[in-house]
Amino acid sequence: MRVPLLASYLFILSSCASGWGTFPVLRSRHPASRAATEFELSGQLIDVTGPHEYMAATNDDLRGPCPGLNALANHGYIPRNGFVCLLDAFFVSQSVFGFAVDAASVVSALAGLYASDITELPCLPFSIGGPTPRTLLGIILGESVGLNGTHNQFETDTSPTRCDLYECGENSIVQPDILQNLLDLFAQNQPGGQNQMKADFDTVGQHHVNRIQHSIENNPYFFYGPVQMAVSCVVHLVIPGAMANHSASNPDGYISPEGLKSLYGVAPGPDGKLKYNWGTEQIPPNWYRRPLDAPYSPLLGLVDMWTNYPQTLIIGGNTNGINTFAPLDIGDFTNGVYSTAALLEGNNAACFVVQAVQVLIPSILENVEAILTNVLAKYTPNLACPELQGFKMALLEQYPGYMLKH
Ligand code: HEM
Repeated sequence: MRVPLLASYLFILSSCASGWGTFPVLRSRHPASRAATEFELSGQLIDVTGPHEYMAATNDDLRGPCPGLNALANHGYIPRNGFVCLLDAFFVSQSVFGFAVDAASVVSALAGLYASDITELPCLPFSIGGPTPRTLLGIILGESVGLNGTHNQFETDTSPTRCDLYECGENSIVQPDILQNLLDLFAQNQPGGQNQMKADFDTVGQHHVNRIQHSIENNPYFFYGPVQMAVSCVVHLVIPGAMANHSASNPDGYISPEGLKSLYGVAPGPDGKLKYNWGTEQIPPNWYRRPLDAPYSPLLGLVDMWTNYPQTLIIGGNTNGINTFAPLDIGDFTNGVYSTAALLEGNNAACFVVQAVQVLIPSILENVEAILTNVLAKYTPNLACPELQGFKMALLEQYPGYMLKH
């Protein structure tokens, strides 16, 4: 039942997603290099008044690992209870945070595949946090777990500010120290510009390397498979890509520490140290999203991240407790089609990720392969990917984190 329904949704989303056809935006680009006028910017101002006034979540509301969705719910752009229809999340990610159609399609499709409640048509709602009593039937069917329950499917290790599930037993709450590390890194990379720091992709690349090292050292079940690698790289890139503010003098976007803390629901506690206040993610007043003629694509900055920080591309995991990271032998895994070094050449990394998604997602949900193959074929005609006969899936079994839940 789930598969044909999702096929329709994926078809609708993919029909809109023309931008992936040629992969023209693989490298970083900034939309506007000249100063914008206040008039031009006015269309980018996000309304936080009236029905979109900020209200902190109550204990009955659902909130989870995505600061973007949490903030959207706290402002009523999606239902404040955190139980959202798939297409609403799709559209509002674009209108409020400037996601490109491809970005919005991918996150919505993943949410639909792993977290939605197929018993409620045609909305296909999903919880942006944990399961909810409304989805009890879905839970019984093993269908609806909410985003919190999608570990190693959508929710991954090495998140920008969250613990790994098997490091802390919890994977949805902001760890303020980690957010502080990221802010320090932004500031360190641009001394003097502390209030309006360039929204650069390089800083999140460095942060991601640090996060991977942290997972190796602290998460005995750390698993960084091909799909997990792609998701965790992309959610790092979303921070400068979609959480930056914009102004007439900074039309390309800037990160302000206060703005980012507000979007993450973090503020100084009584001891002066940063504290996460659950359910308080807030879009700051005077927050201008990126221009819609240069929306945020998940491919923006991805190849730069892989090239400048190749550690972010090394697939593998801990094999026997902490500090036992073993990279996957990409040559063996792909029956000699790729090698780790070759992944950095040309479009190989993009090809590999696309092919991995095609193969690994169906390993979780049977029969989805045909759907995703059709969807992805639409996106990839110009990639000229090497032909792959399949992956040696048994090689993933060396990673206890993969065997635990995938
Ligand atoms: C349909 C819409 C969306 C869905 C289903 C979704 C889902 C998710 C999930 C499951 C994660 C956790 C990934 C991990 O484990 O690291 C995540 C993380 C994240 N998402 Fe979203 N997301 C959506 C839209 C957005 C939007 C509009 C933004 C805009 C700012 C955003 C920003 C982020 C960021 C920055 C993270 C990383 C959080 C961290 O610091 O650890 N997402 N999202």
